Amino acid sequence: MTQNHDNATGVSNTDVVRTATEDDVPGIQALLNHYAAMGNLLPRTKSDIIKQLSHFRVIARDSAIIACGSLENFTPELAEIRSLMVNETIKGAGLGRKIVAELLALAEQREVKRVMALTYVPGFFHKMGFETVDKDIFPEKIWGICVNCYKFNNCDEIAVLKKL
Ligand SMILES: CC(C)(COP(=O)(O)OP(=O)(O)OC[C@H]1O[C@@H](n2cnc3c(N)ncnc32)[C@H](O)[C@@H]1OP(=O)(O)O)[C@@H](O)C(=O)NCCC(=O)NCCS
Repeated sequence: MTQNHDNATGVSNTDVVRTATEDDVPGIQALLNHYAAMGNLLPRTKSDIIKQLSHFRVIARDSAIIACGSLENFTPELAEIRSLMVNETIKGAGLGRKIVAELLALAEQREVKRVMALTYVPGFFHKMGFETVDKDIFPEKIWGICVNCYKFNNCDEIAVLKKL
């Protein structure tokens, strides 16, 4: 069957873009395990994913999770994009852009003023309107979350920020 795609995002007209449910946890974990093993993303526990499920947006294709990302607040005005991932076999088709657009729309709804991410792909975020910034401007992240990370003393991720 031929699938029609939204040219801007690569999302086919049979794909479903929605908030994650508990049924999606294995699909999210599979993506995360893949990219964590490659060192692209930090691993997360199943219970951490479940706790944050209502903040995840996913794209489901034929009932498989092909892309996802979450928007998690530090403060009412500052949120972070986390666990942004697209299935390896369909990277570069606009699905990452679609997830970021969904998360930014969610940020607008929540009246968040700043959205940040720590990433190894700043070039992608620049395309989404983010700028590279100094990590130190996010003490909420550094002292609330990063301090517990195994990379804390040796973090090579780049901080990016978009003001809404
Ligand atoms: C990063 C990621 C989410 C991007 O999603 P994607 O679907 O592959 O990207 P898109 O097709 O939506 O790309 C949108 C734009 O960003 C550009 N882009 C994509 N990946 C890029 C990268 N690694 N570096 C620079 N630019 C990139 C594309 O060329 C495209 O530009 P265009 O609009 O000018 O054509 C995806 O590649 C991925 O899952 N990577 C592995 C996990 C990861 O690193 N996640 C980020 C965690 S913060």
